[in-house]
Amino acid sequence: MKTLTEKIVLGVALLSLASTTFCDEEKSAALPEEIALLTVAPQVPPPITRKHPARVVVNLETVEKVGRLSDGVEYTFWSFGGVVPGNFIRVREGDEIEFHLNNHPTSKMPHNIDLHAVTGPGGGATSSFTAPGHSSQFSFKAINPGLYVYHCATAPVGMHIANGMYGLILVEPEEGLPAVDKEYYVMQSEFYTRGGYGEEGLQPFDMEKALNEIPDYVVFNGSVGAMVGDNAITANVGENIRLYVGNGGPNLVSSFHVIGEIFDNVHVEGGSLVNHNVQTTLVPAGGSAIVEFRVEVPGTFIIVDHSIFRAFNKGALGMLTVTGAENAIVYSGKQQEAVYLPEGGGIQTIKSAPSEASVAANKEQRILFGERVYEQNCAACHQNSGQGIAGAFPPLGGSDYLLSDPQRAIDVLLNGLSGPVTVSGVEYNGVMPAVRLSNEKMANVLTYVLNSWNNNGGEITTQQVAAKRSGH
Ligand code: CU
Repeated sequence: MKTLTEKIVLGVALLSLASTTFCDEEKSAALPEEIALLTVAPQVPPPITRKHPARVVVNLETVEKVGRLSDGVEYTFWSFGGVVPGNFIRVREGDEIEFHLNNHPTSKMPHNIDLHAVTGPGGGATSSFTAPGHSSQFSFKAINPGLYVYHCATAPVGMHIANGMYGLILVEPEEGLPAVDKEYYVMQSEFYTRGGYGEEGLQPFDMEKALNEIPDYVVFNGSVGAMVGDNAITANVGENIRLYVGNGGPNLVSSFHVIGEIFDNVHVEGGSLVNHNVQTTLVPAGGSAIVEFRVEVPGTFIIVDHSIFRAFNKGALGMLTVTGAENAIVYSGKQQEAVYLPEGGGIQTIKSAPSEASVAANKEQRILFGERVYEQNCAACHQNSGQGIAGAFPPLGGSDYLLSDPQRAIDVLLNGLSGPVTVSGVEYNGVMPAVRLSNEKMANVLTYVLNSWNNNGGEITTQQVAAKRSGH
């Protein structure tokens, strides 16, 4: 009965016999051979336990296939291993890697691979150019430990990377990495699509957007939501986590951050320099970082690119779900909520310098200009509908408070309003700050309000506002 290792070695030996073009004399005969275990993100192959170098055979396949970029959005990904990011490869410093790049027969394009872990021209690219339905072999020695990006480098290079052709290869140092409880693979990248973010259907690559470096999508592990909800990475309270973080780009630099965690250790740029107590670490396009932290309390920890519109508007958001016992000393959760009353509306002002208003020639123009002022200063609370928000901001449409005394509304704009106020039979107890607007703009916005949402009409003039402001 042969062991699995013996079978693998036998299999490799047969493969070598079948080959006539490979240069066997370049192999180090003494090294034991093994087949690399490749994983799909966020999974990472297990730590290497052997204490000696080996000849590691990597079989990686390039595949072009349609997949999900976001809900309702599909994209024709070009990939290593049929997944984006490509399979994670794990070897040891001093290993000799026999690399087989296999381009699937259904591919329309030739592909190759540039591994940043390779010392040699093109990082392997010049030796691995492979037409559809063909296979290339080359070998390299993993001289430098570290976490390295690999990517396709076939022209047009940017397009091959933009379509999903990148992944990570870890070269463990000879002495290994310190043991941790959980290891995960997280890789950021951008997509440039014909349609804007969320536009449904099969979206083709947009070269113009890629040239301008304005992506529609910035994602972790190949698609929007690849690491949220049921797909979140997980840990238990008290565990040490190690994230192998890569950035495929093709253009953007990542400001990698986990909300509510501090990285105990960061292997800066995936190399041997270790920094401590880091909030956010830069991950260059075509670069990496290894971050380690202990999770002390349960909850959902949001993983982001802290260039924050990418996180909340373009998809660069993942989740780490930690389960276990609470620790109220480390983090209490909300202990109290109470009403906070500032000393008076008059001392709070919205800080925007009064600017020259367009001077309205008549009431119709005043209403028109006033609408713009309303949208910029009032609509966030009182809403475009003028209906306010129940329990928080009173309505301006049909408001007896406003319509019974329009002059009083000038006071409210000039001085703010705080404390209880009854509007159309409903009590509100909030704070409206004084608004810093020119007399002209105040007149315009009040006139707009009086003439909107079936209100009674009427006009507030610049002179009336000026008079109120000067205390008359
Ligand atoms: Cu390619």
